[in-house]
Amino acid sequence: MIIGSEKDVTEAVLRELERAPDTRFREIMSALVRHLHDFAREVKLTEEEFQAAVHYVAALGKHTTETHNEAVLMSGSLGFSTLICLLNNGDHGQTETDANLLGPFWRMDSPRTENGGSIVRSPTPGPALFAEAWFKDTGGKPIEGAEVDVWHSSPEGFYENQDPVQADMNLRGKFVTDSNGNISFRSVKPAGYPIPVDGPVGELLRAQGRHNMRPAHLHFLVYKPGFKTLISQLYVPDDEHLETDVQFGVTRHLVGNYVRHDAEPPPAPDVTPPWYSLQHTFVLEKGVARLPKPPITGKAEGERPRIPHLEPA
Ligand SMILES: [Fe+2]
Repeated sequence: MIIGSEKDVTEAVLRELERAPDTRFREIMSALVRHLHDFAREVKLTEEEFQAAVHYVAALGKHTTETHNEAVLMSGSLGFSTLICLLNNGDHGQTETDANLLGPFWRMDSPRTENGGSIVRSPTPGPALFAEAWFKDTGGKPIEGAEVDVWHSSPEGFYENQDPVQADMNLRGKFVTDSNGNISFRSVKPAGYPIPVDGPVGELLRAQGRHNMRPAHLHFLVYKPGFKTLISQLYVPDDEHLETDVQFGVTRHLVGNYVRHDAEPPPAPDVTPPWYSLQHTFVLEKGVARLPKPPITGKAEGERPRIPHLEPA
């Protein structure tokens, strides 16, 4: 179609999309084109702003490598990842859910660890944490034999794969639920950590006067055929960035029941107070068990990374 006015452009693109045989593709792309064109009309996007936007999208690709995905980081920083998660879990957003973001640090083949065992695999400073979790179906029945991957950052704010100082697979473990749908393990209390700000996500945060911290959390990935794979995080309630997570991941339901103990006898003789306990019951929805593609494959070498902390405005 030959374009007569700005309105015709949208019409022309939508008409061409009608050729697409895949109905879902047609639905998604038509809505995208309508919203994208209306967005430009609403903000009266200038040519300079459009050129800046194109450079910005290209920069997302340039900053993406085998071990870092800037597009995922951007999606999280705009709240889009959490929106997608909440739209697709908890009975399609109708009820609270244990589902949460995967994040960039899950590794395949975490070491199989017995219930009650420790996932501290090299000297790691920080208060001891004793965690216990139950896994149930939506009817409340315990799920036996589910594989549960657990991983988290060190109290210094580094995942082991980022940090040559930690042993391979430190603070990672794979557990299998017992007949009560239960796992338990010992670790150390995780800390919050900064996301990288050397790319377009850093520009976005600086333009808003935002900090770049994620509040402390434990990650879980639960796999059992017959259930939708559950990806979750349990956040530490006393973290100063709980309300302002740079990735908008904190939901009320997943603020974890971390309890500080100063006076009670510790559960192991080598523990000095304060130590922490954590308990949580996860609910798995029926569905297809699928493992995500691991965002990373190995461990960093050389120096511990230096990721700047942005001060909020
Ligand atoms: Fe994380």
